Amino acid sequence: MLQLYKGTTRLYSRVLSRQFSNTCLLLNEKKEDINKSNYGQFTKQEFENARTIIKEQIARLESEIKGESNIRSKLGSMPQFPSPSKSTARKVDTLTDLFAQTIQLTGPIPLSAYMRQCLTHSEMGYYTTRDPLDLRGGDFITSPEISSVFGEMLGVWYFTVWQSQGSPGKIRFVEFGPGRGTLMYDTLRTFNRFIAKASTPVDIEITMIEASDVLRREQWKLLCDEKHEFETTTEGFNKSTTQWGNAIKWVYTEKDIVDDEATANYIIAHEFFDALPIKSFTKTEAGWRELMVEHTPTVTNTQPKLATTEPVEKNDLFETEFHLTVSQKETPSSMIPALSPRYRDLAQGSRIEICPDAELFLMKMIQLLKPKLGAVMIMDYGVVDSIPENSLRGIYKHKFVSPFIKPGEVDLSADVDFDNLVNISKQASQGKIINYGPVDQGDWLHNIGVGYRIDQLIKQNESNPDVQDKIYGAYRRLTDKDQMGGVYKFLTLMPEGSEKPIGF
Ligand SMILES: C[S@@+](CC[C@H](N)C(=O)[O-])C[C@H]1O[C@@H](n2cnc3c(N)ncnc32)[C@H](O)[C@@H]1O
Repeated sequence: MLQLYKGTTRLYSRVLSRQFSNTCLLLNEKKEDINKSNYGQFTKQEFENARTIIKEQIARLESEIKGESNIRSKLGSMPQFPSPSKSTARKVDTLTDLFAQTIQLTGPIPLSAYMRQCLTHSEMGYYTTRDPLDLRGGDFITSPEISSVFGEMLGVWYFTVWQSQGSPGKIRFVEFGPGRGTLMYDTLRTFNRFIAKASTPVDIEITMIEASDVLRREQWKLLCDEKHEFETTTEGFNKSTTQWGNAIKWVYTEKDIVDDEATANYIIAHEFFDALPIKSFTKTEAGWRELMVEHTPTVTNTQPKLATTEPVEKNDLFETEFHLTVSQKETPSSMIPALSPRYRDLAQGSRIEICPDAELFLMKMIQLLKPKLGAVMIMDYGVVDSIPENSLRGIYKHKFVSPFIKPGEVDLSADVDFDNLVNISKQASQGKIINYGPVDQGDWLHNIGVGYRIDQLIKQNESNPDVQDKIYGAYRRLTDKDQMGGVYKFLTLMPEGSEKPIGF
């Protein structure tokens, strides 16, 4: 018995010492594959015991990361928040109340839990209750909203990829976090124009992964015409038909995407990964410790305040009731940096940000690629050749503010860890997915030919210098290295055997 226990523990730590994503992969292995495995110095029983322990551990971790329930029915509920007993329950009108009461009951909460509620709480979340890209009252603007040329370039790019993959007759555009739907609109408009000249008909369908009902409506208004209603299916999905006649469906999470063998998936994620909840850790004398959100005015508050991202421009929206602090003890998530070779040897005092949700979304994107068919295009800001450290920021009315001010009313965003996305795609696909990039947005747009399109538009507007100035201004904003052209990166993932795509 002791022998078995020891063997199991050794195996347990050996398997766990892979990255979190690897562990997910192990769990996804089919029973038959496990039976065929080489158990090395362990018996099959030891292996199975270890597998059970890992499964429990991952289930706990996943439940902390994503919640246990389907986001569709329980978006915003927090299984790890014990609800106050009826006698002590106070009214919760804002996320500030919810966090203050929760922290008073449980102590500081993980940063990822705080972020998830702020962004997608069903009634008080940032994305679920507004259109953040609204031209008048919005908080930020994105490349597709600056100029339609951005989406046109993506349409051209996808057309060349489609052609290079043998012009498959059945394709699906899948967009994660489509905002107002502008990028899908310009991409499809361009793609459909080119494809109209194709000799054989192409069946195109669209799946949008969108947590916000408000934004789904905006997407429908832009992409569909009044002849096609915005319907709700019995499963709680929405569906309609675009103005070009393509079937379109909205789902809340990557788990709800329905795929089939015959369809090539062309995946788009623009400013999606930076909007996902992150976890933050620091390496202390005792090992990796998770950063938690603490409420300053609580009586029991004894935990020191840690710095958040230095403001570019100081304003009074950096003084907050909530702040980051270091967990005194190990949390279930501290095993993530402790077991990963990427973080294990970092010096004491290091601070890192990890986005487990990004790994889960990326794994789904990879699954949607078929041999020599499909492509993933990730466009976002983030770091290459380093690990994000302290990048979380709040964005409110076009200004950087503390991520802890006005919970639920401020956009939260963190740098994307591009190296991690590339590594995960390589590991998860066992080298069968090839990455191109990340390259700077400005370089990619120039490689595709944005300059020709801008020239064309400027010539078409010769009689209107104001419009010409606007077109040129948008071009500079999208491509200049000291503006979005240098800050944003393009990363493509394609199945091995595909031709190298243009733009890289
Ligand atoms: C920063 S906006 C980017 C919008 C658009 N791609 C653009 O560039 O204009 C993030 C988008 O992701 C969606 N989103 C954020 N978190 C999500 C989640 N967990 N699941 C699905 N959609 C999410 C938001 O509702 C929004 O549409």
